[in-house]
Amino acid sequence: MLQMTNDRCAVDRLVEALDLALRAVAGVHRAQRPSPSGDLEEGALNDAERAHAAALMRVNHVGEVCAQALYQGQALTARDPGNREALEHAAAEEQDHLAWSAARIDELGGRLSFANPLWYAGAFTIGAAAGILGDRWSLAFLAETEHQVEEHLSGHLAQLSPGDARTRAVVERMRADEARHRDTAISLGAAELPEPLKGAMRLMSKVMTTVAYRI
Ligand SMILES: [Fe+2]
Ligand SMILES: [Fe+2]
Repeated sequence: MLQMTNDRCAVDRLVEALDLALRAVAGVHRAQRPSPSGDLEEGALNDAERAHAAALMRVNHVGEVCAQALYQGQALTARDPGNREALEHAAAEEQDHLAWSAARIDELGGRLSFANPLWYAGAFTIGAAAGILGDRWSLAFLAETEHQVEEHLSGHLAQLSPGDARTRAVVERMRADEARHRDTAISLGAAELPEPLKGAMRLMSKVMTTVAYRI
């Protein structure tokens, strides 16, 4: 009986993961919190500023597609139920980020990345592989990912037009959430990743962001 319940939980989690994957890739989102852009006024942007903001937000959206995949991959393999719950909570916040960035891209007249299914598949594989190494290492990978995303968002804030209050509000809130996600991963017992691995992650993220800026 207990085995059947466990099996059902596993199947439920798998179905939920599949549902989230399709939503992430197709751009159909369920945000729990309203977008931080709220009723802020649209800035007077020129064409170049608007196109740059849309492309930066496409990069962020791809990052969030990857975050969905990473968290799902890790939640599926997490051994500790408490860790799994924390991962699922952070993943729900990442869904807000996904929805907010997609909505902002739309407002800016941009489009989502064509390669979303590919990004998702790659990140899911990495997340599941990290999960297999055990909670301590999978959390370490997560903490470092969140840290790099946080840095990345700071870089975007430096590039966005000061008048683009709506985009800036979304990016600022995402950055605050990512910092909290990193703290959560550390408080759950994340190990410290070796420097060469951090460097490899930076390199991978550089490739991803360069490609996503264009397509
Ligand atoms: Fe995020
Ligand atoms: Fe995050």
